Amino acid sequence: MGQLIDGKEVAARVRAEVKAEAALLRERWGLVPGLAVVRVGDDPASRTYVSSKKKAAAEVGFLSWEYALEADVSQEALLSLVHQLNEDAAVHGILVQLPLPGHLDTDAVLAAVRPEKDVDGFHPVNAGSLLLGRPGARPCTPLGILRLLEEIGCDPAGKRAVVVGRSNIVGKPMALMLLQRHATVTVCHSRSDLPSEVSRADILVVAVGVRELVKGDWVRPGAVVIDVGINRREDGGLVGDVEFARAAQRASFITPVPGGVGPMTVAMLLRNTLEAATRGAGASGTLTEPFPGAGRLAR
Ligand code: GUN
Repeated sequence: MGQLIDGKEVAARVRAEVKAEAALLRERWGLVPGLAVVRVGDDPASRTYVSSKKKAAAEVGFLSWEYALEADVSQEALLSLVHQLNEDAAVHGILVQLPLPGHLDTDAVLAAVRPEKDVDGFHPVNAGSLLLGRPGARPCTPLGILRLLEEIGCDPAGKRAVVVGRSNIVGKPMALMLLQRHATVTVCHSRSDLPSEVSRADILVVAVGVRELVKGDWVRPGAVVIDVGINRREDGGLVGDVEFARAAQRASFITPVPGGVGPMTVAMLLRNTLEAATRGAGASGTLTEPFPGAGRLAR
């Protein structure tokens, strides 16, 4: 039986680190990181995620604001809010919760966020920086997964990593981040021969949003299994993208759902916000002045 990776416990430690660093920033520079979260419509899952992000921000001493817009908000109104937040010196991080309703142009909205305030790492400039291996904000879920690998002493260098799912939020950035850490990376999708690819993985990351798509019998004995999926069962319980019980028998380490990757995403969002504030994204939007927001205190 593989060991469980306790994402809740690791996330609590990351939050404590961020809280201590935020306290220093406040003491030394009078600077309080500010996170603005934008949600459109009434998707219950988005509502839950956004409220946990806001609560976590408050707990580490950040300022946070939630903008809940009507489902039929216009593209212009949403862009105008993003522009306003771009200009607001108290806001260091902007997050637009996805998915957006179909009438909105998600790409245009993500591109409107100033790259320096893009704490999700979804802006094309940040995505390009990741591709090129240059500094920039990285998406929170893959960042959290790397931290979990580090915690269990799993260095991706030289290992076969298989990423199931090619989303811009998890699969693609995860693959690039593992590649940067010298793993041999395979990205799988709906046309892949999943059983055969999965069975070769030393590190398996699954992020597709299909309940128990990856069967436990496919898992290579001794593999590290990271399950990003959060799917609701008929009885209301949560279940991942991997058939947990059988996979756990073969894996060396495995993340549970819930309590694995989920809490890490929120913790890494806080870290990205702290870093944006430290780099001075609030006041100037540039990376060149270290603390232009110094002297501003929390309201
Ligand atoms: N929807 C699902 N995951 C995420 C995320 O990490 N960030 C945002 N903004 N939306 C999401």
